[in-house]
Amino acid sequence: MKRTLVSGIKPSGRLHIGNYFGAVKSWLELQDSYNCIFGIYDLHALTQGPKPADLKKAVFEAALDYLAAGIDMDKSILMLQSLVPEHAELAWILDTITPISWLERVPTFKDKSKQFADNLNMGLLNYPALMAADILLYKAVIVPVGEDQLPHIELAREIARAFNNKYGETFPEPMHKVNHAGARIMSLTYPERKMEKSLGEKNYIALSDSPEIIAKKLASAPTDSGKNASASKSPGVANLFELLDIFSKDAVIGGFEKAYRDKVISYADLKQQLATDIAAYFESFRAKRIQLAKKPDAVWKILREGSARAKKIAEKNLREVKEKVGLL
Ligand code: AMP
Ligand code: TRP
Repeated sequence: MKRTLVSGIKPSGRLHIGNYFGAVKSWLELQDSYNCIFGIYDLHALTQGPKPADLKKAVFEAALDYLAAGIDMDKSILMLQSLVPEHAELAWILDTITPISWLERVPTFKDKSKQFADNLNMGLLNYPALMAADILLYKAVIVPVGEDQLPHIELAREIARAFNNKYGETFPEPMHKVNHAGARIMSLTYPERKMEKSLGEKNYIALSDSPEIIAKKLASAPTDSGKNASASKSPGVANLFELLDIFSKDAVIGGFEKAYRDKVISYADLKQQLATDIAAYFESFRAKRIQLAKKPDAVWKILREGSARAKKIAEKNLREVKEKVGLL
């Protein structure tokens, strides 16, 4: 019997290459080995106070990205969190055994306390408990995510342990899985920070960006004079080389490394090559996404059907939990 894998993202726009190499790519590779349940976590997105129309659009964009990237409905389940109310219900039950101090010490909460200082809502504090519910509801054993999500997975393990101790063995402790090749893709404009949508359009490359846009975004990435080649590259240059490592052929990478050492590198050439290679990498993705976007009804239908399949599993597991804690 295959074991269960849960992962997903909160919808907040289109997928970027950080999401792809940090998370999505490993999901695609694991579709044959696990029963996969991939979520679009719209209840989590609500914690950031999106406009209603924007949230709906972000959910649709996320579905397009997932499907175009290769999530296969014959192998996996693609679900929308808010269509499976059992997530919120289990989160409440888990809340009652989760000390506030566990939530307060989560690093992302500390960051968000600063970022959302004028809307520090309960949802932001409770975010990891809902995420634990997303995972435990399906008794998942593995959760492939980017590095920044590790504290959340650790907390899900602690909550599972606390529940099992109090009510008897119920949840496996979920393991994280980090895709090391792309665990942390850095921002184009602020190369010392991770690539993130909230830093603005220019700092990320979306999988759906056209070749022209990719070239334009790379063109404005910071470099240096190219004349002081030292053992440690400046952050912007190191970032470009990391992207070359992912997208370009060995001979191309070797050529630019040599030019860098010889202090004759042209960053304009490097960026142009990189733009060509990134655009080529996602060419079939873009074509597939354009086709899917023409059939919104079919995309919503896939999401509804996937959510219904998830709900069946969720109902069964939640019933077990309710019996254990003494609810009817
Ligand atoms: P987010 O866009 O923050 O909701 O993240 C969605 C998924 O992509 C999570 O598993 C993150 O860990 C991963 N991720 C986000 N940004 C990056 C990045 N710059 N590098 C690697 N993984 C990332
Ligand atoms: N917090 C995750 C992120 O920002 C999204 C998420 C919500 C998630 N629930 C999850 C990821 C369950 C994996 C499993 O990327």
